[in-house]
Formats: sequence, structure tokens, C-alpha cells
Amino acid sequence: MNIVRMRGYNMDINDIIPIQHTENTPTAKATRTPKKMKIRELVGKVHVRDCIEMMQSIRTGSVQMIFADPPFNLNKKYSLYRDNMEFSEYLAWTEKWVLECCRLLRDDGSLFIYNIPKLLVYTAPILNEKLEFRHWISWNSNGRPLGKTLQPSHYGILFYTKTRESKFYDVRAPHPKCKKCGSFLKDYGGKEHLRHPIGYQVSDVWNDIHRSRHRKHRIENHPCQLPVHLLERLILMTTDNNDIVFDPFCGSGSAAVAAKQMGRRYIGCDIDSEYTKAANQKYKNAVEVKGEGGENVSMHLGQFISVRDKDLSK
Ligand SMILES: C[S@@+](CC[C@H](N)C(=O)[O-])C[C@H]1O[C@@H](n2cnc3c(N)ncnc32)[C@H](O)[C@@H]1O
Repeated sequence: MNIVRMRGYNMDINDIIPIQHTENTPTAKATRTPKKMKIRELVGKVHVRDCIEMMQSIRTGSVQMIFADPPFNLNKKYSLYRDNMEFSEYLAWTEKWVLECCRLLRDDGSLFIYNIPKLLVYTAPILNEKLEFRHWISWNSNGRPLGKTLQPSHYGILFYTKTRESKFYDVRAPHPKCKKCGSFLKDYGGKEHLRHPIGYQVSDVWNDIHRSRHRKHRIENHPCQLPVHLLERLILMTTDNNDIVFDPFCGSGSAAVAAKQMGRRYIGCDIDSEYTKAANQKYKNAVEVKGEGGENVSMHLGQFISVRDKDLSK
């Protein structure tokens, strides 16, 4: 596998333009007019902004893929954000940013919302009114839940698209093998000849991506950092090189790094300037990752994690 520097992107001035709010538009009456931003300032960095305000300044239908990992209202210790709204307030706020996400998607675009099942069941009905349901992806992060009851041990990722004609690419992951002897863990019941030489086609249950606990991959002081290769899999599945990925809750910048490593353009925001500073630094340091045939490949600790089926012939 080769790791090569990311080539410069061509900015398309038509992709995103700030909305011009006049005194007659409802948004201008209801809220403060968002600051107009230059395109070059918008793409290719994480902005210190409230996500709703940020999205209101972006033109309808301008992003290919959105990944949203909002605070779960579980009283987590963020450095600025207070994660303890009244439940009804949290739901009203959720509806507001979810509707903005739906508006921003291109006709062939995809939206992923990551959360705990208990909250996703409230998010899905909002999405059902606006987008097409595709999958509920279950990510088993291999945590060790402690407690006496039926503890949740998976996170849900709602996958919706704007239309049925959205971009989608099958992705393969390495066949699970025994760490000691190297033999395949899955029994094909006498049909081993049908096993794909590179990897299995991923389903909607993901057991193979673990939370990163290594300091090297984490920033200080952020309680909910996702593994970059989780985001890379979603990006490979639903976007092409140079497409725009938007992340309204950037946090430590996992999606920013994933987008750059997979050769996609990126816009993100977070209300906390401490996080955006660290995320921008990580984004700046990230480089595009390509396989020998020039295809983007998601890697972790020297092992491939996800590759698109259609790229394997390269
Ligand atoms: C669950 S974390 C995201 C973690 C991120 N996916 C990662 O892997 O690091 C949620 C983030 O949303 C940010 N946040 C909370 N309210 C926000 C708002 N209104 N607009 C933008 N960001 C917000 C918090 O500061 C926090 O960093």
C-alpha cells in the first residue's frame, strides 16, 4: 500500500454559496443574519460555529454526504457544551438540525446519523418524512458495558438518502482470522471456494472496528472520539473522490481526517474552539491514502479495513 500526499483540490464555486438573506425571508426575521463566508474559507476546514447557523449559510443541495454525531444528552463532560438539555428541548433542537441536513443534501446524497438506539427512534420519524430509509447500521464498538440490566452494546447509524438514485458502492473488509494460527474464523460449510480472495462484503452489522484507545489517535479532553476508519467506510460507500463531506458536529475531527485520507473535500463545524483548533491541526497533517492501483483504501495499523468492490479490479 502506498501513502501519498493529497493533491490540490479544484474548488467549484458553484458547489456552495452563502444564502443571501433579505429582510423579507423568514430566516432573516426569525434569527440573526448569518455572516457571509467566502467559499475558500468554507471548504477544507473546521469552523467554530453553531451547526444550525452554519448550515443556514450553505446553499440547498450542495453536499454529497453528511455524517452527524450529535451530543447524546447524557451529561458527558465536553469542555464548553453542556450535555444536559430537557428531553423535549433536545428533541426540538434535533428536529431543527436534522431538517437542515436534509435540505443540504444533493439529489444523489446520503445522510448518516450516529447515536444510541434510544434517541435514534425519535430521529427516524423526522427523516422518514424527508428522505429514503436505506439501513440501520449496527456498530458493535467492542466496549465492555458494565451494569445489571440489558446494557446497550451497539450504536446505531441511520443511513438515509435523498432519492433512490443515490450513490452507493459495496465495500469489502478482510475475512476474520484467528490471531494465533491465522486460519479463517468463518466456516463456509464446504463452499470455501466461494470465499472472496480479498474480503467479505460488509453487511449492516459491523464488529470489526474497535474504538481507538491509543493516545496517538486521540486529542486531549474530548470524551467521544470516533475511529477514523469507521468514517472512512461510510465515505467509501457513498461518495466519489473530490465529493463534499459535511460534518455538523466535528468534535475531535475524525470525519475531517477520514475525508482527507479518502481524497474527499470536507467542511465541518463545532461550537468549541478548543476542539476545532485540534481538529484543524489533525486535518492539516492528514494525507490521502491510496492502494497500488491508485484507489482510496481505508487502513488501520497497517491492515486494510475497507476497500470498494469496484476498485479491486484496478
Ligand atoms: C459526540 S461529539 C462529536 C465527536 C466526533 N464525531 C468525533 O469523532 O470526535 C459532539 C460534538 O458536538 C459539538 N456541539 C454541540 N452542540 C453543537 C452545536 N450546536 N453546533 C456545533 N457543534 C456542537 C460538541 O462540542 C462536541 O464536540
